[in-house]
Amino acid sequence: MKARVLVTRRLPDGGTEPLTAAGHEIVTPEDDQALTHAQLCGAAAEVDAIVCLLTDRVDDAVISAGAGRLRVIANVAVGYDNIDVAAATAAGIAVCNTPGVLDETTADLAFLLVLAASRLVSTAESDLRAGRWEGWGINQYLGRDVHGATLGVVGYGRIGQAVARRAAGFGMQVLHHTRHDTGVPGWIADLDALLAESDAVSLHVPLADDTRHLIDARRLTLMKPTAVLVNTARGPVVDEAALAQALEGGQIFAAGIDVYEREPEVHPSLLTAPRAVLLPHVGSASQQTRTRMAQLACDGAVAVLAGGQPPNLVTA
Ligand code: DGY
Repeated sequence: MKARVLVTRRLPDGGTEPLTAAGHEIVTPEDDQALTHAQLCGAAAEVDAIVCLLTDRVDDAVISAGAGRLRVIANVAVGYDNIDVAAATAAGIAVCNTPGVLDETTADLAFLLVLAASRLVSTAESDLRAGRWEGWGINQYLGRDVHGATLGVVGYGRIGQAVARRAAGFGMQVLHHTRHDTGVPGWIADLDALLAESDAVSLHVPLADDTRHLIDARRLTLMKPTAVLVNTARGPVVDEAALAQALEGGQIFAAGIDVYEREPEVHPSLLTAPRAVLLPHVGSASQQTRTRMAQLACDGAVAVLAGGQPPNLVTA
């Protein structure tokens, strides 16, 4: 049966194909404008499915507004901390995400940040662009070697493992931390110990109550003064103000950051902190991957609307 699906923003070309192929009606905001929370609540009451983005806050109010008609919320992202999954589940509304299709692309970017932060790429490039470079100098822009260094991967899911594979190819030793023993060599039970031993630390945990400010001022002091911190997971996993202070104080060498506590805001002290490579949440931003993400989210919505259980169903 034809359903009405709200797609909150224009998706990459081909992204909504599963919805059109299934004959569903797609409604989108005019001019590709982000919906306000009130508009999202209003729209939720009039559709059978929502395909949304990580920038849409799908909280209890949206879910209550949709309850009765709304059957599925499909997030075009693997992370789903923007959705109140418990409230959706209680209301009998399925939630889907996009696992698997963005792992390699996100791992590429995480490793790019390991390299760029270690080699002070942003500092060097901005000096060059601003006319501050006075020619080659033996003591200029001295970064840290990546080859031969130890990478600590925090969270060892698909993306963490993909980063570890890249690190091995660059001649790094790889440690990883998860709460439960992975049985893979390099597992470290104690996050503090991993931080103390690593030359580069890359974060790959979802945002949850127990990962908010996982990397805080205390944990930053455990890292080597020569170490770099990379975050492509979720901003609130790192205390941004504490990170800026750690960079200012030389407590750590550098940072490569793609995600922020209050996007699109970036803590002012992080913007001016030295040796930070700062990107605007582009971990999964390749044309191919963003299209695959959109299609996978839409596939999930189509499956639920057809009465099925898609593999990308999220449970509370
Ligand atoms: C995700 O899918 O959660 C990513 O943050 C999007 O890049």
